[in-house]
Formats: sequence, structure tokens, C-alpha cells
Amino acid sequence: MSATRAVPSLDRVYAERVNPQWVRLLNLLEMNVSYERCSGVELFTSDGRRILDFLSGYCVHNTGHNHPWIVDALKDELDLSGPAMLQSHVPELAGHLAQSLTERAGGRLRRAAFCSSGSEGVETAIKFSRAFTRRDGLLYAEKAFHGLTCGALSLMSDSFWSEGFGPMLPGTASVPFGSLEALEERLATRRFAAFIVEPIQAEAGIQVPTAEYMQTAQALCRRYGTLFVLDEVQTGMYRTGPFLAAHRWGLDPDMVILAKALSGGLVPVGAVLMTRAVSDSVFRSLKRAFVHASTFGENALSMRAGLATLDVLVHDDLGPRAEKMGELLRAQLREALAGFEMVEEVRGLGLLNGIAFRAPRQMKLRIPFEGFHHVHPAMFGQVMVMRLFRDFHVLTQICGNSFHVLKAAPPLTITEEQIARFVAAVREVVAIAHRPGEFWSEALGMARRAALG
Ligand SMILES: Cc1ncc(COP(=O)(O)O)c(C=O)c1O
Repeated sequence: MSATRAVPSLDRVYAERVNPQWVRLLNLLEMNVSYERCSGVELFTSDGRRILDFLSGYCVHNTGHNHPWIVDALKDELDLSGPAMLQSHVPELAGHLAQSLTERAGGRLRRAAFCSSGSEGVETAIKFSRAFTRRDGLLYAEKAFHGLTCGALSLMSDSFWSEGFGPMLPGTASVPFGSLEALEERLATRRFAAFIVEPIQAEAGIQVPTAEYMQTAQALCRRYGTLFVLDEVQTGMYRTGPFLAAHRWGLDPDMVILAKALSGGLVPVGAVLMTRAVSDSVFRSLKRAFVHASTFGENALSMRAGLATLDVLVHDDLGPRAEKMGELLRAQLREALAGFEMVEEVRGLGLLNGIAFRAPRQMKLRIPFEGFHHVHPAMFGQVMVMRLFRDFHVLTQICGNSFHVLKAAPPLTITEEQIARFVAAVREVVAIAHRPGEFWSEALGMARRAALG
């Protein structure tokens, strides 16, 4: 397949009617293929390729693609012809899912507010924390990714995402992830309703904090009356081993945002878990019984999918499996990539992992590396992604706010054999990148095609 191939008519309709630049980008990366079927960790293309998914739709497919239990649960729900969404009744399934989620989450989390995406969950956390504290300031960590609605965007320091969409929410401030001093300095102003933070910063390059940072951050929030809100949109649902990454460090947050993997990757869903007191601050009287809601938030299909997904995750022991397979993956990657000077580190927890690259020291590699960085900081990582996909049939991506980190986040159902295939493919591509020539001329070709576009 080449980047200049004729665009099939279905792409043309999408390009004309939805987003032409997305189609251009996929063509440029030679990743515009048609998928016929997706099952477990594998994606089957119409031209006969079998692709290993090490991206999981950015941590959506924890249970693997189209898990039969979840598919059956959705079919059963449709066959019931029940009230999918009346907006005028008590949706029982939402009660059951809220119970299941809060019992698993533990601590003081007793209620859930449902929505349809991670960003909407962040918006919910903003509103509820303001209502509870009667403060309007919002604190977040630098390089965070919280979603692309205006409220969530206001909690992201990288201007790439917000440029042209301003003004953002007033009263927000950022602190470096990991700095307790900076956090305390801000919290001490007592202006902030919430500190909203990812327990492991995913798009920032799989940044794993110390237990001390997370535990002290929580204690400082308590001391200064700021809600400690964890965005577990990528880290939740057993992705890092425990149900929540918070459990690893014994945290007891005021709110937790979940989305993505909660519905088995099949229907949109989001949930914000919170204390009873926070929930009551919004739903505090009959008059305010529906002051916060979202049309599709508690719809039967999403709730049924959530319940079935939890069943699969627990029944198949996918949390312990994520922990074990993650250790195996990191150990094998570290061994296979030892000695390659551009590999800085392999890091992560459970099955949320990253391979961090750095500039080479050898002049013959450093010159093209810096040249391409100058053309576009994502160029090096994107050529890696392209070669893994095209030549080794592995799907992954670089982190959205840290272009030199390649993700390794497969479904939690991954097998040892699939891990070995991934590690061998990454090793090959890294070896190619360490030879002057081919890899870099490919990058040059990509830069030219992007410029000619
Ligand atoms: C940590 C985190 N929070 C929030 C979001 C936003 O989720 P959504 O795309 O479902 O709105 C994302 C999306 O990638 C995310 O990674």
C-alpha cells in the first residue's frame, strides 16, 4: 500500500463530509486500511493482514475487541425492548452499575454520576467540586490530558489543543506533576475547588509518580479544603492491575472519573464516582433534582455494557493478568532494547507502558534526528509507528503530549506469544532506526509528502 494510492470511495465520502485532514494523515502514515473484523487483541484487514493492537483505542479495549459476553449482553438488552432512555423513570441498571463501581472503588466513594465520555466526566467533576466547595479555582498538573471539551481543555497546559478555541475557563492554574512544593503553594491560597490529576499521566509520556507524591498530594488537598479528583479514564478498569490505580497507593479520593474501557469499548459511557456529600451538594433539594444530567448518561445499553464489562474483567482475572503481563512486557522490552542508545527507558505499570526515546549521541544519527525534530517534533515517533504498522502489523501510537514516547498498552487479554511478537517487532524497528539511511530517508519522504499534501 502506498501513500499515493487512489482513495477508495468510502474514504472520499468521509473526507468530503467529515474530516479530510484525518484521511490525509492516515494516508501519509500508510495506516488507512479497511478493517473487516476485530476480535480480542487482533484486527483483521480486508487485504488479509492480521494486526496486533497495542494501543487499545487509548485504553478502551481492556476486555479485548468485541468480547462475546459483552456483545451478547447488549443483544439481550436490545431484545428486551425495554426503556432504553425515558428521562422520566428510575433507570434501575444505572443503580446497579453505580453500586458495582462504588463497591469496587471503595473508600468514601458512594455515588455515581453517569455521562457519555471522559471529557464529560471531567466537566461533571468541575461542576460538582465547585458546588461542594463554593470555590471556583481549578488546579491541574502540567502536560495533563483531560479531554477536548472547553472545561477539560482549560485543564491542559499544552496550547496545541486549545489554540483557536479560547477563551478557556478562568481561575485555572497548573503545577508540575510531582512537585509537592508547587502544589502546596497553590493550595494554600484556598482558592481551588479541586486538584484534578491523572494517577499516571498517560499522554504526558506514561509518567508514573511516587507513592509519596500521590499520598501527600491527597493529604495537602484535605488540609486546604480542595477536592482530590483522580482522572482514571485511562488508568481505571484494571488497566494497571488494581481496579483503580489509586488502589496501588491506598488513596481515598473525593472523586474518580471513569470512561473508555467501562463499556467494553462498544458504547459511549462515562462515570464520576464521588462521596455522598459531594453528590448531595448538587442534588440538595427537590427543586434541584435534575440540575445536572446528560440525555444519554444512564441509557440502558451503556449501563448493561458496563455491568457485563465488570463481569468479564473480574471473571477472567484481568487485573492480576494486567499486572503479570505488564511485568513480562517491560522485562522483555528492556532486554531486547538494551544497548540501543536512542532508547532512554521502558516504564509503566500493569499494561499502561511507554518506551521513551532520546536524541542519539553519534553524529551520523544525531544530525538526521535533530533535522526531523526541527521539521516536526512528532516525526521520529510517527515513522516508528508507521513502520511497526506497515512492516510488522502492530498498531500503536506515540503519546499525545510527549512525542518521543511510544505506547505499549494492549488489551488485558494479551498472551505471552503476542507480547513476544510485539517485542520482536519493536526491536527490529529500533534497530533500523539505529542504522543511518533507510529509516531516515523514509522520514524525509514523509516530510515531503506532508509538505506537498
Ligand atoms: C486521562 C484522560 N482523561 C480524559 C479523556 C477524555 O476522554 P474522552 O475522549 O472520552 O472525552 C482522555 C482521552 O483520551 C484521557 O486520556
